Amino acid sequence: MSSIWRGKNMPNTGRSCMDRPYVIINAAMSIDGKIASICNDSRLSSKHDLVRVHRLRSSVDAVMVGINTVLMDDPMLNVRYAEAKERVRDPTRVVVDSHARISLTSKIMSTCKSIPTIVAVSEKASTANVRRLMDMGATVIIAGKDRVDLCMLLQRLKGIGMEKVLVEGGGELNWSLLREGLVDELVVTIAPIVLGGRVAKTLVEGEGFSSIDHAIRLSLVEVKRMDGGDEVILHYRVM
Ligand SMILES: NC(=O)c1ccc[n+]([C@@H]2O[C@H](COP(=O)([O-])OP(=O)(O)OC[C@H]3O[C@@H](n4cnc5c(N)ncnc54)[C@H](OP(=O)(O)O)[C@@H]3O)[C@@H](O)[C@H]2O)c1
Repeated sequence: MSSIWRGKNMPNTGRSCMDRPYVIINAAMSIDGKIASICNDSRLSSKHDLVRVHRLRSSVDAVMVGINTVLMDDPMLNVRYAEAKERVRDPTRVVVDSHARISLTSKIMSTCKSIPTIVAVSEKASTANVRRLMDMGATVIIAGKDRVDLCMLLQRLKGIGMEKVLVEGGGELNWSLLREGLVDELVVTIAPIVLGGRVAKTLVEGEGFSSIDHAIRLSLVEVKRMDGGDEVILHYRVM
């Protein structure tokens, strides 16, 4: 039986991506692997877990999300739940949005004058859309022809001094990053619930691998039970 090594510098796409920031994916999912309900309710984390996530956010240079997450959840992606004694620092927000579809009234765009914001687009984004985002105060990075080229984007982020990037979904972005060998760590909170629903989004979407041999291998770093609850936090390193 053939065995294929899918290390982070030997991605499944066959190309390597050197000189990029350290990338951590963080997500909360139900026990059946859903990151949102069929009606797109994605509030799976307890207050304790939110404090952990916001503490993690304040330790990285950038927080990255896919455009669908912005369109569906309208997140702020700043640090709100860290405790008062901790140093609170908002990371730069990076939205992966090939066509510059992000709404100018979204929480991210409405606050991009006070919290650094990058919208990563492809060459397919219209000049008018790009101009509107820049006029609002966002930085626009053009990376990729039809879709955002994630390796190119990460290399650009590294070039402007970003050493650590936290990815907060959704499933499509998680898939692309994992498949391209661009992820170093995966932190998953398992909420003690079952959501079901064949159209409910899962932790990793995309086309998927055809066999276990092709799967991305992980090595367990830590398992933690969240204080005062039944949540479990799984911390893996990508091999
Ligand atoms: N529980 C959690 O922890 C959690 C966290 C985050 C999100 N969510 C949930 O996840 C769902 C959204 O996830 P999703 O999978 O639909 O979308 P997503 O990953 O948020 O965004 C995917 C979109 O990003 C854009 N994109 C651009 N370049 C890309 C590339 N190279 N690879 C992948 N995507 C690229 C594409 O749109 P364009 O082609 O238009 O650019 C693509 O459709 C929502 O239901 C949200 O609530 C849950």
